[in-house]
Amino acid sequence: MCGIIGYLGNKKALEILLDGLEKLEYRGYDSCGLVIFNSSQNYYLQKTVGSTKALREKIKSLFEGNWGIAHTRWATHGGVTDFNAHPHYDCRQEIFVVHNGIIENFKEIKQRLLEKGHKFSSETDTEVFAHLVEDYLKLEKSLEEAVKKAIKEIEGTFAFLVVSKNEPEKIIGIKKSSPLILGVGKNEFLLASDPTPISFLTKNVVYLDDYDMVILKKDGFQIFSLKENKYKKPKINSIDWEIKTEQNNIFEHYMLKEIFEEAKAFGETIKDKIQEKKVIFEELNGLKIERINKIILTGCGTAYYACLYGKYLFEDYLEKETRAEIASELRYENYSYDKKTLFICISQSGETIDTLEALKIAKEKGAITVGIINVPGSSMTRIVDYLILTKAGPELAVASTKAFISQLSILYLLAFYFAKNKNPDYLYEFLSLKNKIEEMLAKKEEIESLAKNLIDFKNFYYLGRKYEYPIALEGALKLKEIAYVHAEGYPAGEMKHGPIALIDKDFPTIVLAPQDSLFEKSISNLEEIKARKGKVVLISDSEKDFEVYSQIKIPQTKEEFYPFLITPLIHLFAYFFAKHLKREIDRPRNLAKSVTVE
Ligand code: AGP
Repeated sequence: MCGIIGYLGNKKALEILLDGLEKLEYRGYDSCGLVIFNSSQNYYLQKTVGSTKALREKIKSLFEGNWGIAHTRWATHGGVTDFNAHPHYDCRQEIFVVHNGIIENFKEIKQRLLEKGHKFSSETDTEVFAHLVEDYLKLEKSLEEAVKKAIKEIEGTFAFLVVSKNEPEKIIGIKKSSPLILGVGKNEFLLASDPTPISFLTKNVVYLDDYDMVILKKDGFQIFSLKENKYKKPKINSIDWEIKTEQNNIFEHYMLKEIFEEAKAFGETIKDKIQEKKVIFEELNGLKIERINKIILTGCGTAYYACLYGKYLFEDYLEKETRAEIASELRYENYSYDKKTLFICISQSGETIDTLEALKIAKEKGAITVGIINVPGSSMTRIVDYLILTKAGPELAVASTKAFISQLSILYLLAFYFAKNKNPDYLYEFLSLKNKIEEMLAKKEEIESLAKNLIDFKNFYYLGRKYEYPIALEGALKLKEIAYVHAEGYPAGEMKHGPIALIDKDFPTIVLAPQDSLFEKSISNLEEIKARKGKVVLISDSEKDFEVYSQIKIPQTKEEFYPFLITPLIHLFAYFFAKHLKREIDRPRNLAKSVTVE
């Protein structure tokens, strides 16, 4: 997953592109680069390993150009080096390309081009496209005609921006499966991977569809659909939300800021959904749950764990067959969708390629599709039949925290709504969760000292049953992804079937055991671990002292609501563990915020 951006207008492109790259860095940040041109066809090319900050430091000349393209990279093909950073170019350094996606057949194309005498300067898949366009430009009369021909050879996913020094003040953009949006300003344009950088220039955007090619010139733009083989009338949308640059001047990291926004995210997400002891979903007008005989929830990573929570809820509340599936598996399953299938995709970014592709398959096969998505205007929001936006606000840290709480809250309200609001007294308790989440966040010091006391351990189990099983998986993922510490989430009942073999004094276990219907079972698992000298951290509302390494008290609530109280604690635990290991918390190694490549 990478970020691409292109500017053409009457301002200085350099600052606009650098500022835009900073807003796209959550998509990948191992290297970056740009090329800008001035009206006399001179250009300035700079690329570097590292973030936009490193690029700024490398840019010596204040080259005054009014158009150009830029890229921030999460490496797929080719190591993290200056040469592999984009933009890539052809043999004569006249054609420049930035790319988000994967060219699956790049090896055979590269081999053929090498035999024709092309000289390559990188190990990337992207570079083949610059040389392909170079070849076709010898036969075609314009850059757009050459791109039209070259793209036909490409298999895989792409959002390309292409420029040529010999065709000044022109940017060609084309996409398939990877996002690309056009911002239309006053005599200036911005093409980008998502609306974030665009929203600072203009609110008018054109969402491009697969195989749309945008030909951008100083005096305007055209869109040619390669699918329909004709020009199409562009539909100008308005970005109807404010993307505030999230100021983070009181928290050390965006992740901590966003954990502390979990109660607010909960409140914002449910705000317009509960009226006089009833749950309402205006977004779902026309959706008749009575016509549904099976429900499937899908997502990736943390969003998948929200799906698991939803599965238990829907089975309890609706007594309808409900599955939760990892999207990267579901998209290759031969699942029998039909118009009685309710397909719910969950995604913070709305761009995760596996979830997006699973959604497209479900929609093609006739399922009714619902999206629970945080980023407005993202690809998934424009495909689902019904869209429910979580209102967590921009989530900039790679680790998803407040968006997860928002996803859980929508899922609970959906279960309640589909079950025709059958036990309204639960809503009072549900509404009290906002304050209870704040109470959990106030345990910051207690959690930080627990993390510091356990900092030398290299392996952890997280155990939970039913509603706490997804939270056990979430806790383990967070420790892995930001502290780089091995952790596994397990259904507590599974311990005896193998995992308990690893337990000894150096293998602590976090047991998530509220006093719900499975409490006694979880306590038996806890005793089995203690009997083998395993250290146990117990998170529970029980008043009893279980003589464990550490016991964290949470308030009592309904069985299905405990995940809202435990989640802030396991997020804080992972955060402080990573902090005391001095990790790059907001930009953990090897990861990016939005996985738009397979
Ligand atoms: C969560 O902390 C991770 N960053 C990752 O698992 C993430 O949840 C997953 O990639 C799905 O992202 P999405 O919600 O944007 O689809």
